[in-house]
Amino acid sequence: MAKIVSFSNQKGGVGKTTSCVNISAQIANKGKRVLMIDMDPQGNATSGLGVPKSKLKKTIYDVVIGKCDISDAIIKTRFKNLSIIPATINLAGAEIELHDLEEANDEKFNYLAEGIEKIREDYDYIFIDCPPSLGMLTVKALSLSDGVVIPMQCEFYSLEGMSQLFNTIKRIHQLFNPSLRIVGILLTMYNGRLTLTNQVVNELKKYYQDKLFKVPISRTVRISEAPGYGEPICYHDPYGKGSLEYAAVAKELMTRI
Ligand SMILES: Nc1ncnc2c1ncn2[C@@H]1O[C@H](COP(=O)(O)OP(=O)(O)OP(=O)(O)O)[C@@H](O)[C@H]1O
Ligand SMILES: [Mg+2]
Repeated sequence: MAKIVSFSNQKGGVGKTTSCVNISAQIANKGKRVLMIDMDPQGNATSGLGVPKSKLKKTIYDVVIGKCDISDAIIKTRFKNLSIIPATINLAGAEIELHDLEEANDEKFNYLAEGIEKIREDYDYIFIDCPPSLGMLTVKALSLSDGVVIPMQCEFYSLEGMSQLFNTIKRIHQLFNPSLRIVGILLTMYNGRLTLTNQVVNELKKYYQDKLFKVPISRTVRISEAPGYGEPICYHDPYGKGSLEYAAVAKELMTRI
């Protein structure tokens, strides 16, 4: 039975997609069956795995609004054990449709959760890449997840958004999903030589010591160029720093959930 983990942070550009793609590929490469769900209309996780968006017939949008069976939207990637439900910009429409319909009849809106239950046995892990907002798509994702990973950069503004994110997670936990918990906070684009980085890390340790993943992900050119090749870092640069760090985080994640 798959464990479901969302990568979420309402702040943009903090490394959610990069972490979701690379951790998914890493764990799949180690022999686990992994399904990645792209829940972001930007579709970055989709292109990060080299899936051409223009040719897609079915996407997560169709699943979310109940227009197709979930198994028809799953694509096997060219990477070992790794499948994806892709997203395109049309998912942005679902956010609005969901909102209207959800108010009208909440029951109707469980297509995604129901779909996932049907295929849950087929995977060991399902990882969801959330958009940079705390809107309906994120709420949907968190409502059906066992855990959430929070990628964050070591910057001053990163700390500001944390309490809001923690409150949202707490509310979803109380209202919809008692099994939701924080798997960990993952520091991304890390540069230990910067004073600011160390200040932020010290601040984080004060409040969230036990939540921090042991290994931060360094800022590297290889990590940022990999999506341009449609490849996760463990294929693009298997022995590089970024790949080794994501491998360590993937390993720790599996012990945490
Ligand atoms: N460790 C890293 N080193 C260098 N560049 C990185 C690293 N992690 C992410 N990036 C780059 O930073 C940018 C933002 O990363 P990413 O898209 O993963 O963030 P995100 O949180 O998913 O963004 P959004 O909120 O728009 O969905 C991307 O261009 C990505 O390639
Ligand atoms: Mg993203």
